[in-house]
Amino acid sequence: MRAIRNILVCGAGLMGKNIAVVFASKKDHTITLYDINNTDVHGVIRNHCRQLVEKGLMTVADLEERLSRIGFTQDPDSEAVAEADFVIEAVYENMALKQQTFALLEARCRTDAIFCTNSSVMSPSEISARLVHRSRFAGTHFWNPAHLIPLVEVVKSDATSDETASAIMNLLRAVGKKPVLCKKDVPGFIANRMQHALWREAIYIVEQGIADAWTVDEAVRYSFGLRLPRLAPMENADMVGLDLTYSIQDYILKDLCNDVEPSPLLTRLRDEGKLGFKSGEGFRKWTDEEKKQSIETLNEYLVNMLANMDILDRS
Ligand SMILES: NC(=O)c1ccc[n+]([C@@H]2O[C@H](COP(=O)([O-])OP(=O)(O)OC[C@H]3O[C@@H](n4cnc5c(N)ncnc54)[C@H](O)[C@@H]3O)[C@@H](O)[C@H]2O)c1
Repeated sequence: MRAIRNILVCGAGLMGKNIAVVFASKKDHTITLYDINNTDVHGVIRNHCRQLVEKGLMTVADLEERLSRIGFTQDPDSEAVAEADFVIEAVYENMALKQQTFALLEARCRTDAIFCTNSSVMSPSEISARLVHRSRFAGTHFWNPAHLIPLVEVVKSDATSDETASAIMNLLRAVGKKPVLCKKDVPGFIANRMQHALWREAIYIVEQGIADAWTVDEAVRYSFGLRLPRLAPMENADMVGLDLTYSIQDYILKDLCNDVEPSPLLTRLRDEGKLGFKSGEGFRKWTDEEKKQSIETLNEYLVNMLANMDILDRS
């Protein structure tokens, strides 16, 4: 497989811009964002990277150097599209749109270019179903904010070749990401399956009157949530002993929520228009200032965690 230098990010929204700045960390990369709508790529990226700069994880000079490698086009017939070695799609989460986008790209890109989708839920097998060269296609699920969260789930479709998957993993490692391989194309891939298993139980606890929503969050934040980045479930099970893990599963699993439909409480809140940040009320009320503060604090926390990544890496 030829060296990856020219990277095309298709869809210059929230995810596309942050993905672009990740790939721009390598000096020999040229990144082009392609979008049907015009957007202030450099201005938004500068703003997104502000906390990294403030914390000293990125210098202003490094940021400006990365920006110098990032271009923008609205022209699908441009050289940046024709010459791309690696394409990552981050358009709206819509199956038909994603399939049309890849049809357009396949007609214009090199036949050996690697194609990836950043879809967070949609099947890479289905997105690539109509492509001619399906073996070079895979899912690359970056998490939001993509420039701060290290994980990228590389999801094999029913046709992704091992060679393609390993080229993608290598590329992601080279730009400082922590790629994990999801060997089967399943809904939720790896991490969202676990996240939604937790959310199902968390909402159920509130629904059953066991604890209110903020108590649930406190119980997570000040217990296993605190140690989770360093002590993840499998190592934790080994640490406490698989005999104990077995006994606990044997006792508790029958009592946990196993609903296969969205929770009645969630359904009611949605029907009442209580959508969380979007409407100003979800499990609780949110002022504009509180919403802003929540996002700022999260990003600050993530930047602090990134500054201490070597602790997580010691395994
Ligand atoms: N936002 C998140 O938290 C998150 C997290 C992980 C994955 N994702 C996934 O990433 C993808 C992008 O999400 P986002 O939040 O960046 O969306 P967004 O709405 O911020 O950006 C989408 C961009 O796609 C562009 N676009 C639409 N049609 C296009 C076309 N035909 N050709 C080129 N560009 C086109 C839009 O102009 C827009 O700039 C989605 O598949 C989403 O599910 C999002």
